[in-house]
Amino acid sequence: NNLRVVTLDGPAGVGKTTLAKRVAQELSIAYLDTGAMFRIFGWKFGEAAPGMSEKELDAHIAQYTFSLSGIGFNSVLSVNGTPVGDEIRTEEVAALASSVAKLPVVRDALKRVQREISTQTSLVAEGRDLGSVVFPNAEYKFFLDATAEERGARRFKQLQEMGKPTDLDIIIQQIKERDEQDRTREIAPLVAADDAHIIDTTKLDIDGVFAAIMSFFD
Ligand code: C5P
Repeated sequence: NNLRVVTLDGPAGVGKTTLAKRVAQELSIAYLDTGAMFRIFGWKFGEAAPGMSEKELDAHIAQYTFSLSGIGFNSVLSVNGTPVGDEIRTEEVAALASSVAKLPVVRDALKRVQREISTQTSLVAEGRDLGSVVFPNAEYKFFLDATAEERGARRFKQLQEMGKPTDLDIIIQQIKERDEQDRTREIAPLVAADDAHIIDTTKLDIDGVFAAIMSFFD
């Protein structure tokens, strides 16, 4: 088939979401936020997950069906027919997502869902393990990186613009903790695929990163 897969991986707060949407828009294909899938699970059963058996986890996971529609900025990820909302966009839910993301049954289930979606539509997939594990044969793979301090400063600015009171030191600390958890887990740790284009975004703005990514396309 002629379906395309482009992967965009990297640590928390590196700008993946903004870039992945923009690249998807430019290519006129769908944007898939895989972090949102882990966040949904973290939000729904993350607190209880550490105490659950594999069978119980499977039963929880089986209750959720994901679907992707739309293109570029207008891409919509739905769970059981309802578009994913802003309720999962908190650091608390992110931490729960990161903890369920360590569980093999969770990763396996979402890997299957992500691959299934890629058989239905071309996409730019954003996450941690898309180039390394989920889509080893992706047409283009990108890995974005930046120092934790720079990522913290960006997130701080975002939250300030949304009018949310925040503390820069706490944000940088949260980013470092999530990095640590994501980079050191046993399965599918955050790592650049051997054949990924690595882009250090520390000194680039969004336009600069976007240009760097697009320069690889024919
Ligand atoms: O990208 P986002 O910050 O929304 O992801 C939330 C958490 O979900 C990450 O910190 C990570 O632990 C997990 N995740 C993952 N694999 C992915 C996407 C997200 O483990 N492909």
